Formats: sequence, structure tokens, C-alpha cells
Amino acid sequence: MAKPTNALLCWALVFVLFLRHLVAEEEQPSIDELLQRYAFRAFGRHPKTALIHPVPLPANMSGIDASAVRFRSGSLRRYGANLSEFSIRRGGVIRPYVRRIVLVRQNLGDRSPQFFNLTGFTLVSPIVGLLVYDASDLNATNPRALELEATGEPISVTFGGEAEAAMCVFFDSQGVMRFLNRSRGGECLTLREGHVGLVVMAPPSPSRGRGWSSTWKVVVGSSVGGLLGTVLLGFLLVALLKFKKRSMIAEMERRAYEEEALNVSMVGHLRAPTATVTRTMPTIENDYVPQN
Ligand SMILES: *[C@@H]1O[C@H](CO)[C@@H](O)[C@H](O)[C@H]1NC(C)=O
Ligand SMILES: *[C@@H]1O[C@H](CO)[C@@H](O)[C@H](O)[C@H]1NC(C)=O
Ligand SMILES: *[C@@H]1O[C@H](CO)[C@@H](O)[C@H](O)[C@H]1NC(C)=O
Ligand SMILES: *[C@@H]1O[C@H](CO)[C@@H](O)[C@H](O)[C@H]1NC(C)=O
Ligand SMILES: *[C@@H]1O[C@H](CO)[C@@H](O)[C@H](O)[C@H]1NC(C)=O
Repeated sequence: MAKPTNALLCWALVFVLFLRHLVAEEEQPSIDELLQRYAFRAFGRHPKTALIHPVPLPANMSGIDASAVRFRSGSLRRYGANLSEFSIRRGGVIRPYVRRIVLVRQNLGDRSPQFFNLTGFTLVSPIVGLLVYDASDLNATNPRALELEATGEPISVTFGGEAEAAMCVFFDSQGVMRFLNRSRGGECLTLREGHVGLVVMAPPSPSRGRGWSSTWKVVVGSSVGGLLGTVLLGFLLVALLKFKKRSMIAEMERRAYEEEALNVSMVGHLRAPTATVTRTMPTIENDYVPQN
């Protein structure tokens, strides 16, 4: 009996671990949320205004670079700000208005393609991001995200060594891609906060672009995951059926044995155990004489 139970437990464990893995993947915070959390921690106990703070990141985010700076929104409007790849000219308006803001600037480096849908295009630069948060509470776990609108000159984004043929693209908060204008100097020009990168058209198959290949990996990954889940479920069912069948056989054997021992005979519709003739047959030598 121990063998089928162990196998069953084993499969059940594998299945539960698999389900947990699926759930854990869904609970992941977005890259923007993660970077915002680390950025707010980077200010420490005595936050300074207009000083660019490098954001320390954990080892599993290597390849990503981030920095954060706190501003009075009035000062951003009057003077603008320069933050690595981003140059905000005077006239940067925050909506809705708050007194103090935090700008979080990200460079997603080699990891860029894993966070965006680049179907049909290949990245030729890292994706950089500029996001704005309410700075009224730097301990807030979920500070309000704000909008930045360039009412004067657009915000310009410089990557350094831009390819001439590349196109500037912008990803809005939903991850939808749009094209941006490029300045004469090759900088990407945007009127608001968000993510910006340089792309070229993806070469047609078989040499597919990185964007396509990452989408492909997601599709194959989820299909394989689903298939694995189905197979495991199948194994679990088979193990369960086998286990049930075995216990049924054992039960039948046990009953057969008991019935033989008692020599159950059918009397009408009643199952009445009767002693076997051979066992209770009185012998002549025996003094005992049965009553009937
Ligand atoms: C990195 O690890 C932390 C926990 O140590 C986790 O919360 C976070 O989601 C991970 N980040 C990425 C990008 O995997
Ligand atoms: C940002 O950089 C540009 C070009 O280098 C410069 O003209 C501008 O004054 C700078 N803005 C600030 C707020 O430092
Ligand atoms: C990626 O974008 C393409 C075209 O913009 C769209 O057809 C496709 O559904 C998107 N894929 C995902 C996974 O969002
Ligand atoms: C934020 O937390 C730190 C300690 O973790 C504390 O010293 C500080 O007063 C807190 N600030 C606010 C605005 O709650
Ligand atoms: C892009 O350039 C066109 C033509 O010069 C202009 O009309 C449009 O406003 C520009 N868009 C942005 C976002 O700067």
C-alpha cells in the first residue's frame, strides 16, 4: 500500500510547486514600480533638493541603471533640468500640481527588450525612462505617479552614437509604441514623461529581431508551461486511478478471503453465514450430538 501512496504524494507535490510558480510570476511588480521603490530609498534620511542620487539596485537587476532627483515643481517650470540622457527645458509643467516631485530616470540597458513589445522592430539603443512622482512622502510605498508636459521646447533624449537610420519611439504608460520626432542633432524629442528608445525595422525572418524573439519566447514558454501542467495533471489522474484500482483489487481480495472463510451462502435475499459441513460434521466417535 505504501508504494502507490508515495508516488501519488510525489506527483501532487510537483503539481502544487508548478501552480505556485505560475502564481508567483503573476505577482511580480512592474520594473517601474521596483525602480521607484529603490529610487525613493536612495534619498536617505536627509533628502537634498536638486541633487542627483544614484539608485543602488540589487544583483538581480544588474545591467539596469537608475538615478533620482527631487525638485520643487516651480523650479522645474522656471529652469528645466538635465538628468543624464534627458534634458527638460524651461516650461516643464507637472499635472496634477504638487509642490515637490521626484524624477526617476532609468536606463534599462541590455534588459530593455524584455520589458516592451517591440513586434516588427529591433532596438538599436537601450530604452531609457523618465517618470515623475509626488515627493510629499518619501516613505510612501506607492506614491502618486504624475504627468510632465513640456509646454515650451520638447524634452530631448540623447543616447550617444545614434544610428542615422534609426527611428525614435516612445512607450506610453500602457506600453503602446509611438514614433517621435528627431532633432537635427539626432536627439529624440518628446512632449511628456515615459520611455524612449531607438529602433530599426526588424529584418524579415529567418533572422528575427530581438523584440520578436522575446515575444516568441513568451509564447513558447507559456505553451510549454501549459503543456507541462496538463501532462502533470494527466500523471496525477493516472496515479490516482491506479491507486484507486489497486485499493479496489485489495478490497475484493480481502472480501473473497473473508467470504471463503465464512462460506457465505445465500438464503433467499439474506446473506447468512453458515458453518461448513466438513468442519461441523459430527463424527461417530464424538460424544457430542448436535440438536438438529
Ligand atoms: C529581485 O529580487 C527581489 C527580491 O530579492 C524581488 O522582489 C524582485 O522582484 C526581483 N527583481 C527582478 C527584476 O527580478
Ligand atoms: C541643461 O543642459 C543644456 C545644454 O547643455 C543647457 O543649455 C541648460 O542650461 C541646462 N539646464 C539646466 C537646468 O541646467
Ligand atoms: C505587440 O504589438 C503588436 C503590434 O503593435 C500587437 O499586434 C501584439 O498583439 C502585441 N503583443 C502583445 C503581447 O501585446
Ligand atoms: C521616514 O522614515 C524614516 C525612518 O525610516 C523616519 O526617520 C522619517 O521621519 C520618515 N518620514 C516621514 C515623512 O514619515
Ligand atoms: C513633430 O514634427 C512635426 C513637424 O515638424 C510637428 O508638427 C509636430 O508637432 C512634432 N511633434 C513633436 C512631438 O514634437
